[in-house]
Amino acid sequence: MAVSYRELGLVNTREMFKKAMEGKYAVPAYNFNNLEQLQAIVTACVQTKSPLILQVSKGAREYANATMLRYMAMGATALAKEMGCEIPIALHLDHGDTFETCKDCVDFGFSSVMIDGSHHSFEDNIAVTKKVVEYAHQFDVTVEGELGVLAGIEDDVSAEKSHYTNPDEVEEFVKRTGVDSLAISIGTSHGAYKFKVKPGESVPPLRFDILEECEKRLPGFPIVLHGASSVVPKYVEIINNYGGKLDGAVGIPEEQLRKAAESAVCKINIDSDGRLAFTAMIRETLAKHPDEFDPRKYLKPARTELIELYKHKNLNVLGSAGKA
Ligand code: G3H
Ligand code: 13P
Ligand code: ZN
Repeated sequence: MAVSYRELGLVNTREMFKKAMEGKYAVPAYNFNNLEQLQAIVTACVQTKSPLILQVSKGAREYANATMLRYMAMGATALAKEMGCEIPIALHLDHGDTFETCKDCVDFGFSSVMIDGSHHSFEDNIAVTKKVVEYAHQFDVTVEGELGVLAGIEDDVSAEKSHYTNPDEVEEFVKRTGVDSLAISIGTSHGAYKFKVKPGESVPPLRFDILEECEKRLPGFPIVLHGASSVVPKYVEIINNYGGKLDGAVGIPEEQLRKAAESAVCKINIDSDGRLAFTAMIRETLAKHPDEFDPRKYLKPARTELIELYKHKNLNVLGSAGKA
């Protein structure tokens, strides 16, 4: 049965982005797949009074069950209210791959969807994105599109390779599709291995020149950054100290994200950092307490650490704290 996101206590991203643009900060878009991640995200955003975009990938929908997710999102808005601070919360489909997936999410109570047509040709990307926009806007659900392909670790990113967003294309794309926000590629990538760097070397800076060009072509238009985890060294170290094997994991330095958040970048996507913090604490707790088999006992420290991580992001990286 179709349900409106408003019935779930959710909002779309329009007003959030308008305020973020004016206030020069970025709204956090945190992915979740389970109860503890959701509790941590909501708690951190309520405690820091930050607007919030709850992100669900196709994989998360398959893992947690679409119906269950609808009620989890409803639970999140109820929890925020119960904690005494009604922060705006959007439920967003991350990397929707087809019109059908996006439509299903609109019908299932999502307030925002991403149609990721970045792997298609320019014309095919426009066609599928426009179709999603036409459907979603009937229900006042906002739509994020993407232009440019985020580099993977295998891609050997270099300025010459045209993975980056071409600023000459953004205006036409936005005009012809009617999207509400646009994800661009300026050197971030998904996962925990964003760059190949030798010990002592620093990571290549993000392409702020491309971002600035996009801003010029689309004045006041919300830009989105994917692949924005910092891959916090502390968590990689804990994981490796307690039996894990994450060699060469590296992310985006916080100061570069702070700079991006002050620009037209209104939404910053973070998933891997939460995964790393969660895994680190579970590994450490189980290693120190090998007799423990009550999931609550080893998930609680992980959830507590997640709360601290997300509060830090809101306060010190995205600047979204106090903006709800
Ligand atoms: O951008 C991808 C997100 O980190 C979601 O990852 O598809 O493994 O849930 P996932
Ligand atoms: P990270 O893997 O850097 O956390 O990126 C997450 C993301 O972009 C989700 O869409
Ligand atoms: Zn992404």
